[in-house]
Amino acid sequence: MNIVISALFFLIMVFLISLIWTNTHGAPWVPTSREVINTMLTMAEIKPGEIVYDLGSGDGRVLIAAVRRFGARAVGVEMDVSRFLWSIAAVTLLGLGKQVRVIRGDFFKVDLSEADVVFTYLLQNTNDRLKDKLRKELRPGTRVVSNTFTFLGLPLVRNDDELKLFLYRIT
Ligand SMILES: C[S@@+](CC[C@H](N)C(=O)[O-])C[C@H]1O[C@@H](n2cnc3c(N)ncnc32)[C@H](O)[C@@H]1O
Repeated sequence: MNIVISALFFLIMVFLISLIWTNTHGAPWVPTSREVINTMLTMAEIKPGEIVYDLGSGDGRVLIAAVRRFGARAVGVEMDVSRFLWSIAAVTLLGLGKQVRVIRGDFFKVDLSEADVVFTYLLQNTNDRLKDKLRKELRPGTRVVSNTFTFLGLPLVRNDDELKLFLYRIT
């Protein structure tokens, strides 16, 4: 019984630390709705085989939609352990293990240079810190779609005022 209580306590602590860590290092978990994901993916004009990154991939819903609806290959980066494990389980159950890779870590430390499309749903101050990394690592032509928050200084191609979506193209 003691072992069970200790294990439970340990898991709760991991969950809480992870939650606090992501909130202070990037953004809290607020999932994008299915409707918004659809519009984001359509805005980015993803072609089959393109590599789509979701920075802070949560439960993997953007990755899964990019692969299933657009035939993309998808890479997620997620810092929070519980959501990382959840997304791995979802991807595995759906049989998408070959098309989706999820990295457990900090997207500020991951090389983004292979991306054709990058999605973000973070916070304004996180976008402000991320902007120079995107400029430095992404190839010309790479599209960046941001939910709710802007990347001031990146070339804006289109925006959806109603859904608060912003499409940029790296030059
Ligand atoms: C607003 S949620 C968006 C989740 C998903 N992209 C979606 O649209 O449904 C932000 C996610 O980013 C993760 N996150 C925050 N900072 C991070 C960092 N520095 N590196 C990796 N993931 C991070 C959080 O754990 C959370 O799951």
